[in-house]
Amino acid sequence: MYHRIWSVVNVLLIIGSIIYIWLFRPHDNTLIVISQFLAQIAMILFIFNVNMYFIFLIIRKTNKREVKIRLATFSRYFMKWHIKISISSTILIVGHVLINLVKIGPVIGYENIKMLMGYTSFVFLLVTLFAGYLRHKKATGFRKKFHRITAMIFTVLFLIHMLAPI
Ligand code: HEM
Ligand code: HEM
Repeated sequence: MYHRIWSVVNVLLIIGSIIYIWLFRPHDNTLIVISQFLAQIAMILFIFNVNMYFIFLIIRKTNKREVKIRLATFSRYFMKWHIKISISSTILIVGHVLINLVKIGPVIGYENIKMLMGYTSFVFLLVTLFAGYLRHKKATGFRKKFHRITAMIFTVLFLIHMLAPI
């Protein structure tokens, strides 16, 4: 049951963001379109990473042996990409940030809600990376929880940032 909700939410997030960005937030300026493209790719990659939480959760909770084995194999493979994905998408986001600071900031003002939520999400991205690094070095109960919670807060924040009007 829960895995169905989880799949639907993922599809909604990905298709929804594609529709929202490309149909509802059109821009003429090439650089700004590139910044949107960078953010679009990065947010999909971040969503892949956040999904690890649900995969580990289902592995822990399911009674079905077959599901456990299949997801455990999948997660072992996918975790090889986890750090690479987070670093690549952070680099994409840095491009997104620089373009917006230079091109959009002066037009809408640096205190615009879109900008403020952008700074906030970026700070939480850095905290999540740091927490991930700590967890990678030595996984204590606190560090696991810290990485999990910062990742969730970061996800909520960047979704609010994405949806915030200019
Ligand atoms: C200092 C940090 C940031 C600033 C100043 C910033 C600024 C902006 C601005 C001005 C837009 C609107 C562009 C437009 O009208 O198309 C935008 C869109 C977007 N940003 Fe950010 N951003 C920041 C960080 C982030 C982060 C960390 C993410 C995480 C994934 C992100 C994801 C997105 C997405 C998905 C959009 C597309 C939605 C839209 O076009 O309105 N941004 N950002
Ligand atoms: C912004 C990027 C990132 C996001 C959104 C993210 C998200 C997540 C989530 C949701 C989990 C599952 C947590 C759980 O259920 O306990 C996880 C696990 C993990 N993450 Fe990240 N993470 C990010 C970056 C990183 C980085 C940069 C590192 C390391 C340098 C890292 C290392 C780990 C490790 C070692 C695990 C545990 C895997 C396991 O238990 O086998 N993460 N991450």
